[in-house]
Amino acid sequence: MIKRQKYGDEIAKAEILIEALPYIKKFSGATVVIKYGGNAMIDCKIKKMVMQDIVLLKYVGLNPVVVHGGGPDINKMLESLNIESKFINGLRVTDEKTMEVVEMVLTGKINKEIVSMLNEIGGKAIGISGKDGKLLVAEKDTANGDIGFVGKIEEVNIDVIKMMLDKGFIPVIAPCAVGKDGKTYNVNADTAAGRIAEALKAEKFILLTDVEGILSDVNDKSSVISRIDLDAAKELMATEKITGGMIPKLKCCIQAVENGVKRAHIIDGRLTHSLLLEIFTDEGIGTMIGKECFDDD
Ligand code: ARG
Repeated sequence: MIKRQKYGDEIAKAEILIEALPYIKKFSGATVVIKYGGNAMIDCKIKKMVMQDIVLLKYVGLNPVVVHGGGPDINKMLESLNIESKFINGLRVTDEKTMEVVEMVLTGKINKEIVSMLNEIGGKAIGISGKDGKLLVAEKDTANGDIGFVGKIEEVNIDVIKMMLDKGFIPVIAPCAVGKDGKTYNVNADTAAGRIAEALKAEKFILLTDVEGILSDVNDKSSVISRIDLDAAKELMATEKITGGMIPKLKCCIQAVENGVKRAHIIDGRLTHSLLLEIFTDEGIGTMIGKECFDDD
């Protein structure tokens, strides 16, 4: 007890580590697909912390797989190259020239930056495009008319990812896909991550977002729904509580869990160390979606 007073802070830290123990055991060898985008990718400090979290996950025995988004770099590059985009119903038309720039920024800049940071922190990361090894095969997405080289994922071939995981690497994937016509398509990064998680039968699919999680009251940021089962999530999907960008995100999570991913998590990427807090604490910090009632695990 005397020790407790004197070393109070240190003991509190040790207790946090001990809280992680059952999860380190439970998730040993588990695959965790992380969609990394938004603010967590822009703010340098947070970026570094996300990278540290990912490397830590690897060192304690999990298998993180990173899928990243585009971020503002694509628009900046299009602007600086004076490439003007056409829009149809608010959606950018990805013509051949635009697609070239998108691919260049995704694979040549963003992907490489993430790989470098992970390596610098002590991970062994390899960057690949969804085109590599035909990881992502797409067809032109015509749901919103012809908006150019925007792809709908038709096939996912995870051999290349498995190979990397077997050898201890952290795969970092850019959301490009090869078309059945041999051309390059841009695919939505959330969808790509979800589909890869399904194909890998991942333990977790984690979306790092710019929101706290799913809110039960849209006007109250503290009303995060901590865990929700599939049926309830589907019901919620049909209500006005799910708006804007959350609609496709929740859809992605529901689909991933329906197709074999154990848990999907929507967490706040703006929060420092949100990955560790979600995975290694009992409460987590965002919304966790699972197949059925899972209060007891
Ligand atoms: N750390 C545990 C897990 O990853 C529990 C997470 C709980 N998260 C939540 N949002 N309620 O499975």
